[in-house]
Amino acid sequence: MPNHPDIMDKLVSLAKRRGFIFQSSEIYGGTGSVWDYGPLGIELKRNLQERWWQEMVRSRENVEGLDSAILMHPRVWEASGHVSGFVDPMVDCKNCKKRFRADDPKIKGTPGTPDGQCPACGMKGTLGAPRQFNLMFKTFMGPVEDSASIIYLRPETAQGTYVNFLNVQQATRQKVPFGIAQIGKAFRNEITPGNFIFRTREFEQMEMQFFVEPGTDMEWFEYWKAERMRWHRSLGLMENRLQFHQHGEDELAHYARAAFDVQFDFGGSLGFQEIEGIHNRGDFDLSQHQKFSSKKLEYFDQGTNKRFTPFVVETAAGPNRILLAVLVNGYREESVAGEDEGRVVLGLQPALAPIKAGVFPLVKKDGMPEMAKKIAQDLRPSFPVFYDDSGAIGRRYRRQDEIGTPFCITVDGESAAANTVTVRERDTLQQERVSTDSLREYLLKRLTA
Ligand code: GAP
Repeated sequence: MPNHPDIMDKLVSLAKRRGFIFQSSEIYGGTGSVWDYGPLGIELKRNLQERWWQEMVRSRENVEGLDSAILMHPRVWEASGHVSGFVDPMVDCKNCKKRFRADDPKIKGTPGTPDGQCPACGMKGTLGAPRQFNLMFKTFMGPVEDSASIIYLRPETAQGTYVNFLNVQQATRQKVPFGIAQIGKAFRNEITPGNFIFRTREFEQMEMQFFVEPGTDMEWFEYWKAERMRWHRSLGLMENRLQFHQHGEDELAHYARAAFDVQFDFGGSLGFQEIEGIHNRGDFDLSQHQKFSSKKLEYFDQGTNKRFTPFVVETAAGPNRILLAVLVNGYREESVAGEDEGRVVLGLQPALAPIKAGVFPLVKKDGMPEMAKKIAQDLRPSFPVFYDDSGAIGRRYRRQDEIGTPFCITVDGESAAANTVTVRERDTLQQERVSTDSLREYLLKRLTA
């Protein structure tokens, strides 16, 4: 029995209707497993990314930021092991032309033999024998399409950090142990993408590579494991929906000596799934790049007069998956005392919510719209607000509840004379009268609480 119900279909519909997430190129029938972030989605994603950057870079003296390019020298991916090792075994159906991972539990019988049965068209004996399928997107650089111009879209941001290890270290004069963090796009030609934005072919990563002296790596690994779990909890993700999963020998990526996933329980049959990986990559990547580029990527410790290739502890998170976790975690349907209609609420943390306050005139007369518009305009430079004067006030509250807006400000009959407004809190539904002059400070304090 799943611990939590499956709410994915409801979320996909809400996300589209309210402008969080749209299918890419929808008017042409959509692009498989690629998604666009609408006005609310991009606010939420940026809030998550800024939260990560603040936590991982700005608040630490031993972590530096970087933004390396998506396109890199093709030898990078030979050195990193991605050309030979970033593969999944897959099978094709000769009848319906569909493609599956060879270990897809829906496949009956053995692919490549007469009893292998296609899970899509149901034909027997049409599945080919498993072949290795590389997950990297390949394209050409420059006007000539030959093997010399092949280039890859990066499948992880980490390699851009490794090849810049000495650039950053020398420019910042950081001493090992120190880290380099970046946020950027990554691409994987996943064989079985799906579950909305959970597994897509274009996505983002927030990765940090922490360079340490060999021998101290497991200590730092434990440190970063704890730090990253603490961060996920700080987003308001429920304690009982978070857990660690340790990779067994057969799960470890080609570069990893040890790995733990932070998993979130997405509910339904998806259940607990990875939202971040913490990896001990040893000296695999730096050593490989030294070998392939013939350039030294060593660190000289002036204190001990020792020269060594650092080990790397990596924290690799996906903002798209974390965004989905935050939506799943916050979604609830509830009845409201004294009202016939229930409400849908996105219980997002105020600091993460895309819109911080709705601003409404109670009715469209007696100067209320003018006063409400002025309040919205005055607040807008400080945080995103939404002015709404259409429909009954109850409906306007519901529209904000559904997108996670923590506060609704209403200008009513008393407002002009008393210079006050009501502030309604999303979760408790409590209303407080607040002076217009102190409204901004009042909200700012509650938004960061
Ligand atoms: N540099 C190490 C690395 O890339 P990973 O576990 O393959 O490790 C890290 O990826 C994170 O990137 C995952 O925890 C997940 O959040 C995100 N991610 C990976 N593949 C993804 C995909 N196809 N769609 C969305 N997010 C993905």
